[in-house]
Amino acid sequence: MERARAAKAALGDSVFILGHHYQRDEVIEFADVTGDSFKLAKEAAARPAAPFIVFCGVHFMAESADILTADTQTVILPDLAAGCSMADMAAIDQVEDCWDELAELGLAQSTVPVTYMNSSAAIKAFTGRRGGTICTSSNAKTALSWALERAGEGGKVLFLPDQHLGRNTYVNDLRGGLDDCVVWDPHKPMGGLTIDELRSATMILWRGHCSVHGRFSVEAVQAARREIPDVKIIVHPECRHEVVELADEVGSTERIIKTIAAAPAGTAWAVGTELNLVSRLARQFPDQRIAFLEKNVCYCSTMNRIDLPHLVWALESLVDGMVVNPIRVDPDVAHHARVALDQMLALPGETHKD
Ligand code: 13P
Ligand code: SF4
Repeated sequence: MERARAAKAALGDSVFILGHHYQRDEVIEFADVTGDSFKLAKEAAARPAAPFIVFCGVHFMAESADILTADTQTVILPDLAAGCSMADMAAIDQVEDCWDELAELGLAQSTVPVTYMNSSAAIKAFTGRRGGTICTSSNAKTALSWALERAGEGGKVLFLPDQHLGRNTYVNDLRGGLDDCVVWDPHKPMGGLTIDELRSATMILWRGHCSVHGRFSVEAVQAARREIPDVKIIVHPECRHEVVELADEVGSTERIIKTIAAAPAGTAWAVGTELNLVSRLARQFPDQRIAFLEKNVCYCSTMNRIDLPHLVWALESLVDGMVVNPIRVDPDVAHHARVALDQMLALPGETHKD
């Protein structure tokens, strides 16, 4: 702790540390700003002064920060092994192949891609090139409405790479039908779908999911309701549709925090999101009863890669004049990814709520 404090003090305003809500306490302690992925993207874009941005989160977040910051700024990810298994479920070649197949069927021109922030810069660039938008868990509803309107009557959305966020947003937030959704499996010819299934679908959901949130179960919701009197279930929209349907509240990490913070003392919660955040909430709000929704779900192992030793290493290296683990997105990819990120930032009102 002392070494991190000393290095940060020595660096002063030349460094700005961003921390995602899933980070360990020992890392959050040193964050200048904490947030969900949308808030952190905006914060990165709003820090033109700091030459170094240390991103305590995962690789796709650091890439987005690099795209949104000036060329004179350097984004540092303290451990390059901090990836995201969901982002890895959509490779750019697979996405291009999918688009080519849709084009062959005459469907691509009426399809708008909506890509979750949890994706590689290459997929964000694909989205920019194809006239789509990025979304996060806090603005997916607005992003999807925008895309459906843009696709027009009979048009489609290709939602990448989290099938659950796509389905939950379409069905729960926009009151669309489950039958309008099909799942594109990148490992099968034509996504494993028939021509008729593709023609009649409104939502083509990529077959990706979060390996942490995908594990929260209906049984855990039922057990919490049985065992905790008056419990409120709050979950992240990356959870499976059946789980989200049974929850009382659904929202991004920032929204989960705000909802719990605003609740009266004595409220009982079972929270379905990453464990570092749930444990911190339980400590921050001791007058509320906060439980982790599912005992068998563990930390996000890649978020957890960023620990105090890696942060100290990144900061002390900067003090010594060395930049370790810079994240630099190829300029052409960055240009098109920025188009899609800017489209997200330009979405109306609701994007800025939580
Ligand atoms: P938020 O955008 O809600 O912070 O979620 C990011 C994430 O990776 C959830 O798994
Ligand atoms: Fe990726 Fe899931 Fe970890 Fe979020 S919690 S970073 S989606 S693996």
